[in-house]
Amino acid sequence: METQNKITANSPIGIFDSGLGGLSICKEIVRLLPNESTIYLADSKNAPYGEKTKEDIINFSIKNTELLLSLGCKIIVVACNTATTNAISVLRQKFNVPFIGIEPAIKPAALTTQTGRVGVLATKGTLSSDLFLSTSSQFNDVEIIEAQGKGLVRLIEAGKLNETKPLLKKYLLPMIEKGADNIVLGCSHYPFLIPLIKEIIPKNVKVIDSGEAVARQTKKKLIEHNLLSINSNANNEFYTNLNAELLTGFLNQIDLNSTNIAFKSF
Ligand code: DGL
Repeated sequence: METQNKITANSPIGIFDSGLGGLSICKEIVRLLPNESTIYLADSKNAPYGEKTKEDIINFSIKNTELLLSLGCKIIVVACNTATTNAISVLRQKFNVPFIGIEPAIKPAALTTQTGRVGVLATKGTLSSDLFLSTSSQFNDVEIIEAQGKGLVRLIEAGKLNETKPLLKKYLLPMIEKGADNIVLGCSHYPFLIPLIKEIIPKNVKVIDSGEAVARQTKKKLIEHNLLSINSNANNEFYTNLNAELLTGFLNQIDLNSTNIAFKSF
């Protein structure tokens, strides 16, 4: 198992995603934990992970973790459902550092549905993972209507959010027709599409994502490991291996302003 030296409570939280989607998680972490420094990696060069093999997803996740640890991170947030459901158990075995993952929020959706039907929009990689199958099989009394969001991540990564609308209609309307009253966004890219999704689905249908839950879980893990920062000069750094301008645009959109945005080869 690989260990890390010189971590303190003021070391940064490392966060990675296949690209820009995990910024939706990062935003919640920064909001809940303003004293924490963060380092975010957008592996946009390799997006979408959801259409890659499990082996590739594991290798990308190891590479991202190694870089974050080399930058001194004290804890790693896998801000990607596809990487979590395919790789987190390998990461936990390989690295001696706490990990927080993100999975489709089936539980809150299943516990609050009135119709007994829940829609889950996620990547092929997430929906076909053993972790997703075992989580969804715990809710036998609820019908889970799945849709693979093929094409959505590519458009989001290209900054073409408005062009996702026809695809969203294709994936979401069948869920509505079948009676789903809760729709789970099982990919950290999709919260960027919530305004468009709300134009498509009826008002009484709830959209559920995992961002806040991941931030709460991160806080809990930091407390458990005595790693909660009291640093009042927290600093948020963002790296992409593709397009720093696009990354800046997304950060502006979610009011996460930082001067530390840079291209990095990884
Ligand atoms: N944002 C990721 C997720 O939560 C991955 C999307 C992709 O790269 O396919 O699943």
